[in-house]
Amino acid sequence: MNQQGNKVRQQVELAIEAQGLVKIFGDNRAVDGVDLKVPTGTIYGVLGPNGAGKTTAIRMLATLLRPDGGSARIFGHDVVKEPQIVRQLIGVTGQYASVDESLSATENLVIFSRLLGLGRAEAKRKAADLLEEFGLSEAARRPLKNFSGGMRRRLDLAASLIAQPPLIFLDEPTTGLDPRTRNQMWDTIRRLVGSGSTVLLTTQYLEEADQLADRIAVIDHGRVVAEGTVDDLKSSIGSSSLHLRVQNPQQIQLARQTVERVLRVQTAISAEAATITAPMGNADAVTDLLIGLREAGVPLSEMSVQKPTLDEVFLSLTGRGVEDHAAQSANKTAKTEGQEYEYIH
Ligand SMILES: Nc1ncnc2c1ncn2[C@@H]1O[C@H](COP(=O)(O)OP(=O)(O)OP(=O)(O)O)[C@@H](O)[C@H]1O
Ligand SMILES: [Mg+2]
Repeated sequence: MNQQGNKVRQQVELAIEAQGLVKIFGDNRAVDGVDLKVPTGTIYGVLGPNGAGKTTAIRMLATLLRPDGGSARIFGHDVVKEPQIVRQLIGVTGQYASVDESLSATENLVIFSRLLGLGRAEAKRKAADLLEEFGLSEAARRPLKNFSGGMRRRLDLAASLIAQPPLIFLDEPTTGLDPRTRNQMWDTIRRLVGSGSTVLLTTQYLEEADQLADRIAVIDHGRVVAEGTVDDLKSSIGSSSLHLRVQNPQQIQLARQTVERVLRVQTAISAEAATITAPMGNADAVTDLLIGLREAGVPLSEMSVQKPTLDEVFLSLTGRGVEDHAAQSANKTAKTEGQEYEYIH
């Protein structure tokens, strides 16, 4: 193949190519030099805690926010120089919120289909099919303003399915959804990719990235701190983690030292709950640990082995946990609901 041919092929093989993307708000470097390469036809997960810069990065890639530094191409088209072309190639969840709140779900989907050039009968059929698929048939006639957060999210995704753009950005598509709806959403995302789309999704849930993503970038403080397949990431943190609770909270430091000495790992502690979390590569080492703790005179009240959480991923990647993660998550639903409307402009 000649050089020109090679170039075209490379461009098509990457749905997203970002280099050194930067966004600064005041003195906050919200996105601080992000590189991303997302192969066409894959699901790419962007994982990170609150405020990591996920949404800001997506908004730059989706031409909704101008980068302060670096560059990004969507299927080879520059987001700053060719925004019109880029917009024709992408879908962003949340855009659907710009449609009329007083109209029903069906009416909204029909209007959306018509705007995309579908005929009247086809638009109606498509709307009915999608509402059925997303379990919204019963609510089809209800106005959007009476929809719950979860129902809106499903409708958002249904709307992206009408156009089926080659690249779809899903910003925390399942936050606040019940488990059944979350599974349904996962199936739908897989189907989208099965039929040729590329999906970039952000999530705070390691499990979600695990279920869906071919590759993952973990971002923290506006930077990519790890990138690779789910297996790469897991092997870097161990396949499971150990949770210990000491009977006497005053012994937590002693217990921690013992765990770190015996397992030779970094641990995280939660002082008020008197618990210690440690990555566990080798289940056999637990025997040694229990002996070590008994010798140190530290009785345990609880011990369990669990899959690594996002906290542990961060602990192992950055040497610290996601501070106050639980408290932040508690505020999450209200915040993300607001975020959906960021995309109206
Ligand atoms: N429009 C804005 N003006 C000023 N600061 C902003 C703006 N948007 C985001 N930020 C800040 O940029 C940082 C990154 O925010 P961003 O929304 O990208 O994080 P995120 O990873 O999407 O977090 P979350 O998981 O909470 O959605 C945060 O410190 C946030 O406060
Ligand atoms: Mg966000």
